[in-house]
Amino acid sequence: MVEKFKKKIKNICCIGGGYVGGPTMAVIADNCPDINVTVVDKNVERIKSWNDGDLTKLPVFEPGLEEIIKRVRNKNLFFSSDVDINISKADIIFLSVNTPTKTKGIGSGQASDLTWIEACARQVADAAKGHTIVVEKSTIPVRTAETVKKILESNNKDNSFSVLSNPEFLAEGTAINDLEMPDRILIGGEDHVAIELLSDIYRKWVDETKILKTNIWSSELSKLIANAFLAQRVSSINSVSAICEVTGANVQEVSKAVGFDSRIGNKFLNPGPGFGGSCFKKDILNLIYLCNYYGLSEVAKYWEQVININNWQQDRIYKTVVDKLFGTVYKKKIIILGFSFKANTNDTRESTSISISKNLINEGAHLLIHDPKVSSKQIAKDLEKEPLTENSNSAEVNNYGTWEYITNLENAFINVDAVIVLTDWKVYRNLDWNEISNQIRPPAWVFDTRLILNKNKIISSNLNYWGLGIG
Ligand code: UDX
Ligand code: UDX
Repeated sequence: MVEKFKKKIKNICCIGGGYVGGPTMAVIADNCPDINVTVVDKNVERIKSWNDGDLTKLPVFEPGLEEIIKRVRNKNLFFSSDVDINISKADIIFLSVNTPTKTKGIGSGQASDLTWIEACARQVADAAKGHTIVVEKSTIPVRTAETVKKILESNNKDNSFSVLSNPEFLAEGTAINDLEMPDRILIGGEDHVAIELLSDIYRKWVDETKILKTNIWSSELSKLIANAFLAQRVSSINSVSAICEVTGANVQEVSKAVGFDSRIGNKFLNPGPGFGGSCFKKDILNLIYLCNYYGLSEVAKYWEQVININNWQQDRIYKTVVDKLFGTVYKKKIIILGFSFKANTNDTRESTSISISKNLINEGAHLLIHDPKVSSKQIAKDLEKEPLTENSNSAEVNNYGTWEYITNLENAFINVDAVIVLTDWKVYRNLDWNEISNQIRPPAWVFDTRLILNKNKIISSNLNYWGLGIG
């Protein structure tokens, strides 16, 4: 029998150095100088980037992250591709690998693909030594802990495990702040010693009253429900944006008036092109799958509608653009401002810019795509189409529906027919509309789906303005 009691956590290993694993471990290392934290990832390139001397090359862009990495990297925070060795040294292992929606087989399009979680559990079962606490950080379907537990316990080695659920609630773009000052830390599990050891880590910088302890399924389910509620607010206000447009109301005024009700609150009431990001859609689909599995088809339909409104919002934006440009965008130059799913991140997963751009390209438009942090390579991957460059041949240039990557907005508006703001990056707030109207091909349109532009300046520069939810 393995000695179960551990006096103190000395070594943490996190499997998965992505948007969650990287920043979370950086903040833990920063707050716990006595603990060695190692992030391992099967993606060798990613580990290389985490170790890059040039901090602008980190694989994840998050305000404040570079400073922390500078302080703790190679002191008590390490990035490594040696997965097994680091598993064997660890007292606690965080599973922070991605769990995409299944694209094939049973539950396709809704259920989470647990291939990676299962693979990691097997690897942990094999390589761990002594007693190890395994923490689910990834958002996963309810009752996954059971699967992880079964795999861990099925090996015949002289090791043992406690499985905890500790979902991460950080939002990208504000990850460091969210990690340093979380609204709550949620820990689900049965093993009280393990729960206390994990709590000890957070207690270094989080107040005890914010550490909630629940059973493991409540913890797993709470993560899905928190995301479903947040996404529901976005879909609610987006549905209202359409009502505002036809009635002459102004969605910002409605949002403010409604949000002033302290029972409702003013957060997550900004209308936009629809929610993106790696979690909302995936987690709601997961919830829908769970409801259907348990025969709760009415409940499943209720949550399905949150996703339907989200798809509908993206579609109606692209259709509005085509409609305003006289029903055709063929060969028209359109500037897309913003490709990440929200400001302050280089993440494009489920970004509404993808579907809107694809639809416009499909209509024959020539898009000029700009984003302060997303690379041309990433956009090409998302659009499944290579950009035009100086070296493109005439056949490519004459293709039906093309795009180009632009890094500089000065002089970018020459002969442009429309500008569409899709991401709320700060740099787009103060564009010089007077100058832009000199470059643009009249009668040109400016579409603001985030309501961050100065409507009056645009109109007084003789440009046509369409603001989402502005009647
Ligand atoms: C997170 C959560 O972990 C996920 O559950 C949530 O739903 C979305 O956000 P995130 O960190 O954003 O995932 O994902 P990603 O940036 O893709 O990082 C996952 C990392 O895990 C990748 O770098 C991948 O290479 C790594 N990985 C995956 C492994 O190291 N081993 C595996 O077996 C699978
Ligand atoms: C979300 C949750 O907020 C976080 O707690 C969880 O851990 C992961 O999922 P994230 O996806 O990083 O975080 O970003 P979030 O700020 O929630 O935004 C999600 C999407 O909703 C973005 O596309 C954003 O632009 C959109 N949104 C958000 C709106 O359109 N309006 C709003 O008022 C708020």
